[in-house]
Amino acid sequence: MSETSWLRSSTTTSTAPPAPGLLHGLAPLLREWLPRQRWFAGKGSPISGFGLVSATELLPCDTRIGTPGLLHVLLEVHQADAEPDCYQLLLGTRTMLPPALAPALIGHAVGGPLDGLTIYQALHDPRLAGHLLDRLRSPGRTESLRFTAESGAGIPSGLAPRLSTAEQSNTSVIYGDTYILKLFRRISPGPNPDLELSLALARAGSQRIAAPAAWFEAVGIYHEPATLGVLQHYLPASADGWALALRAVDDGNDFTPEARALGQATAEVHAALARALPTAVLRRQQIEHLAASMAERLDAAATAVPALRPYRTQLRTAFHDLAVLGGRGRSVAAQRVHGDLHLGQALRTPAQGWVLIDFEGEPARPLPERRRPAPPVQDVAGMLRSFDYAARHRDPVAPGAAAWAERHRAAFCVGYADASGTDPRSDPVLIRAYETDKAVYEVLYEARNRPAWLPIPMSAVQRLAAGPDPLAPPRRSSS
Ligand SMILES: Nc1ncnc2c1ncn2[C@@H]1O[C@H](COP(=O)(O)OP(=O)(O)OP(=O)(O)O)[C@@H](O)[C@H]1O
Ligand SMILES: [Mg+2]
Repeated sequence: MSETSWLRSSTTTSTAPPAPGLLHGLAPLLREWLPRQRWFAGKGSPISGFGLVSATELLPCDTRIGTPGLLHVLLEVHQADAEPDCYQLLLGTRTMLPPALAPALIGHAVGGPLDGLTIYQALHDPRLAGHLLDRLRSPGRTESLRFTAESGAGIPSGLAPRLSTAEQSNTSVIYGDTYILKLFRRISPGPNPDLELSLALARAGSQRIAAPAAWFEAVGIYHEPATLGVLQHYLPASADGWALALRAVDDGNDFTPEARALGQATAEVHAALARALPTAVLRRQQIEHLAASMAERLDAAATAVPALRPYRTQLRTAFHDLAVLGGRGRSVAAQRVHGDLHLGQALRTPAQGWVLIDFEGEPARPLPERRRPAPPVQDVAGMLRSFDYAARHRDPVAPGAAAWAERHRAAFCVGYADASGTDPRSDPVLIRAYETDKAVYEVLYEARNRPAWLPIPMSAVQRLAAGPDPLAPPRRSSS
């Protein structure tokens, strides 16, 4: 072990036990700081304990050397009545924090190997964020961290880092408007679909995504590598679909050409994913299981949100009809999908038109579930719901909101059909089931987090409870 490395040699490829006492010195700070972070999922329930999964010194953390240290930590957080979650932390260490880094302060370590050092959020420090980029540029391992660069990526050095200010559940750093590094906060074993899908799409030549240039994983800790971060090409001068749609609503502008182009882009991504990654066919048993899970979620939501109860019986028909479809021998094609598609997950770029981002799926669902093939209509339903949200964001019952939403939902479906040959509305049972499932999720979310927005999904609930859309194009002749 070198003099400055108190954890372990930085060249070893084995997973040595983390430094003794490290957690002891950090726990009081983290207990205070973690619940205040936007990405911390366990708010509202006290932390009952920590477990150190790994600690890797990317730059020496030592009071004697006077340069900032960089410590990578995977930390298990224990809370009552819940499975522990594993979080990724990048901690900077200095003897004194310069004033510019004051907002990044976590606290002062007392005891353990970091005793006397100031601990802060490393990604706020351009020097440490720059070091992480350097590490991503040069493939290889540092203990349990494995860094990989896509062949031919040619990542330059010295790109100025800045922390993204986007409201997000992970943390991103932008390097010189050339790359964006997303550091996942909640870590699960296995490939994160955000890397898995965007890499598969990029390798298939898709222009509808931000191609990954490098990534890093934790290896030798779980039964399979866990994705920790992805460096992707930054899309400069892009605008997200949610902001663009809101502006169109506010200004009374027609957004249907954009909605149609977004439908085309979505269908192109689906086609590329179906070619690049495994597909499946859902038959009676799986379809019935799918319908039963949706019905269960409805029951749970209706228990929690009284406003949903009067619609429960009618909403259940959406899932009953889906189960009947399976019972009649109808099969449904499934493939890898985006998993959490909405207007905020689409960036309109000057060079590539619409690009889809953030393929990690719904973060609240377990990773194996997010990686399972699903009917692509799941993504379509997400986007259709998003147009409804955009139309009603100012006033859920604004005159004209329903018509705006319907026009743009239709334009999206027409665009999807332009590129895929199939209008999603030609499968009314499937789309109603998925839209209902999504609207039920939204009702629960809004009731818990933004009660003022509850009328938005409730208006969808009323529409969906009334039965399949009478204006939908004719049914598929093959069904
Ligand atoms: N390749 C890119 N080029 C330009 N901007 C990007 C790129 N990727 C992401 N962004 C910006 O960063 C924001 C956050 O990215 P992303 O959605 O991937 O993070 P997230 O942590 O998964 O967010 P969420 O909590 O919404 O799931 C996006 O809304 C977008 O504004
Ligand atoms: Mg996300």
